[in-house]
Amino acid sequence: MAASVDELKKVVGYKSVDDYVTSGMVVGLGTGSTAYFAVERLGEKLKSGELKDIVAIPTSIRTKEQAEGLGIPLVTLDTHPVLDVAIDGADEYDDDLNLVKGRGGALLREKMVEVQAKKFIVIVDDSKKVPGLGVSGAMPVEVTPFCWEYTLNKLKGAASVAGCDAKLRMEGDEPYVTDNDNYIVDLYFEEPIKDANAAAKEILEMVGVVEHGLFLDMTTAVIVAGKEGVEVIEK
Ligand code: A5P
Repeated sequence: MAASVDELKKVVGYKSVDDYVTSGMVVGLGTGSTAYFAVERLGEKLKSGELKDIVAIPTSIRTKEQAEGLGIPLVTLDTHPVLDVAIDGADEYDDDLNLVKGRGGALLREKMVEVQAKKFIVIVDDSKKVPGLGVSGAMPVEVTPFCWEYTLNKLKGAASVAGCDAKLRMEGDEPYVTDNDNYIVDLYFEEPIKDANAAAKEILEMVGVVEHGLFLDMTTAVIVAGKEGVEVIEK
């Protein structure tokens, strides 16, 4: 019987810890349904004694709570600004291992932590592969709640993402609020983003924007699980 998507997520989550984490490391813990399994595996290996002297930095309140529940010692970038490895899922990855992240809302903490890692390992099932970034759904942008509509309109008008639609992310009748008390504007594209580097630069330069979900030139390796098995694509 074919493996379910959850089983595929578990396979890559466990493999990322088995292959890239050794005792004594500072580890970045991602957020989402795939990263969940990496955190679970790390907790398991610390408990059994197979891994020792690990400290970890979570990328969201959700992940922090999961890690605390598993007894994983946690630190912050304040005391540990360089990580040996960070492991996280992604919403999209392309041929160059560039990513869209943040559909789960954790993009700011994810980027702050993952950009500081010597190795950034991305764990996905093969549905996340795209021919170009921005085609499978939203490209999230974290914005300040102050005058969010003004920022949304500026994003819509940005030359590098011309023609995109922009929507404030909602949770029921209220704006979705991130762990950092910000809002998220989701950008939607009919076609892949033409120049992701230009878009990343232009968006980040807007006052009112806190961070965006384009994770460019950060990935060390993508571990992909599909029906045919598991593949590791290294940069
Ligand atoms: C969280 O904000 C995101 O960046 C996640 O890492 C991404 O959405 C992947 O999540 P899943 O593993 O749940 O698909």
